[in-house]
Amino acid sequence: MTQDELKQQVAKSALEYIKGLSIIGVGTGSTVNFFIDMLADYKADIEGAVSSSDATSELLKKIGIPVLELNDVGDIEVYVDGADEVDPRKKLIKGGGGALTREKIIAAASKKFVCIVDSSKCVDVLGKFPLPVEVIPMSRSYVAREMVKLGGQPVWRENYITDNGCEILDVHNLEITNPMELERTINDVTGVLTVGLFSHRAADVVLVGNGDKVDVM
Ligand code: 5RP
Repeated sequence: MTQDELKQQVAKSALEYIKGLSIIGVGTGSTVNFFIDMLADYKADIEGAVSSSDATSELLKKIGIPVLELNDVGDIEVYVDGADEVDPRKKLIKGGGGALTREKIIAAASKKFVCIVDSSKCVDVLGKFPLPVEVIPMSRSYVAREMVKLGGQPVWRENYITDNGCEILDVHNLEITNPMELERTINDVTGVLTVGLFSHRAADVVLVGNGDKVDVM
C-alpha cells in the first residue's frame, strides 16, 4: 500500500469511534482530510464539529457539516486527529501542519482522543521529527536561544503564520526521553504559546494503519 492508502485505511477505521455521536472534534492534516472525506456519508448523524484549523473548517463546511465553537459545546465525546510521531505510551509530536495550539485545546476538552496514523509515524523515542513550538512573534529569537540551551536546533518556519497570528520554530535534534518534563519546561518559556508535545494529554487510542490491518494501541 502507498502511504496515502495507509492513511485512508486508518481514517476509515476511525469512523467506528464516532458512531451515534452528534458532535465531534476534528483535527488537521492529510490523514484527517481522508477522514473528513469519509464523513460526507455520516453527515446525517452529525450536528456539527469543532475544528482545529481554518483549513479543516473549510473542508467540513464544503461537505455540509456545521463548524461549532468550542465555547458553545462543552466537553467533546471524541476527537479524531493525526500525529507526526507516536511513542509506545501514546505520547505524540504534533504540529507539522501548524495547528498544534487549537489541536491541543480540543484534545484537552475531549473525553476520548483517537489518533490516526500510518505505521511510519511510530517510534520508540520521540524527537526525530522536529518539535514544533508556536511562539508569540516578538519572542521568536529569545525562545530560539532557550531551545538551544535545551540541546535543540531551532529552525524558524519562515513565511508561515498560524491561524492564531503566531510563528513556529521547528526544533531539531531533541531526543525526547522524558516528554512529560520537556513539555513542562518548554511551556514555561516566556513567549511560547504551545509546544507540540502531547504528553500530559496523550492520545487515548492510537489507530495504526499497517496495510494488512489496523492495529489498535
Ligand atoms: C497538524 C498535525 C497533524 O496531525 C500532523 O502534522 C500529521 O499530519 P499528516 O496526517 O498530514 O501526516 O499535527 O498540526
